[in-house]
Amino acid sequence: MQPLHIAVIIGSTREGRVGDGVGRWVAEVAAEREDVEPVVLDLADYDFPPCYPAQPTAEVRRFTGQVAAADGFVVVTPEYNRSFPASLKQAIDHAYDEWHAKPVGFASYGYRSEGLHAVEHLRSVFTELHVMTVRTTVGVNLLVDEPLDTEHRRRAAEAMFDQLTWWASALKDARTRRPYVS
Ligand SMILES: Cc1cc2nc3c(=O)[nH]c(=O)nc-3n(C[C@H](O)[C@H](O)[C@H](O)COP(=O)(O)O)c2cc1C
Repeated sequence: MQPLHIAVIIGSTREGRVGDGVGRWVAEVAAEREDVEPVVLDLADYDFPPCYPAQPTAEVRRFTGQVAAADGFVVVTPEYNRSFPASLKQAIDHAYDEWHAKPVGFASYGYRSEGLHAVEHLRSVFTELHVMTVRTTVGVNLLVDEPLDTEHRRRAAEAMFDQLTWWASALKDARTRRPYVS
């Protein structure tokens, strides 16, 4: 089987963010699997327009092109005020068809809730975009002083990728056989 193209989207663009470290670790776990070819989409690398443009800018098209090329996604999100950051919503809203009939998994972080409030809001957003959200999430409680690559987190990441690749493969086949109806 050809490896699946999975985009790891780093959602925080905050100065001094911890999200790039979490995103890199998720991409490393993905790269160790034979069924996944990860590409990191770091939202800090995109110069999105401050106001939603009437026509997509070159940077918007660069982002939506990467979304279109992916078979599935892992969204790496912090929790900001019980939700996900505005930088992530801005990026998500720039694409539409490009998301359709693909799966997304989540790696979230924050304080005690490990970013799960952000994930629950993202599930609702992705439903509108015809995206299948996988059940198992990878969570990081930033108040616990431990490395990212613990045994329990690695197990969660592998389970998340097992579910994500199952859906990515199934939906890729289905999209090839019959255009998705939205
Ligand atoms: C504006 C803002 C709001 C936050 N709200 C929450 C919150 O509701 N729950 C939580 O667990 N952590 C919250 N935090 C803590 C963040 O999860 C933590 O700072 C994390 O490092 C942010 O991710 P980043 O460093 O990749 O931007 C908040 C942080 C910021 C900057």
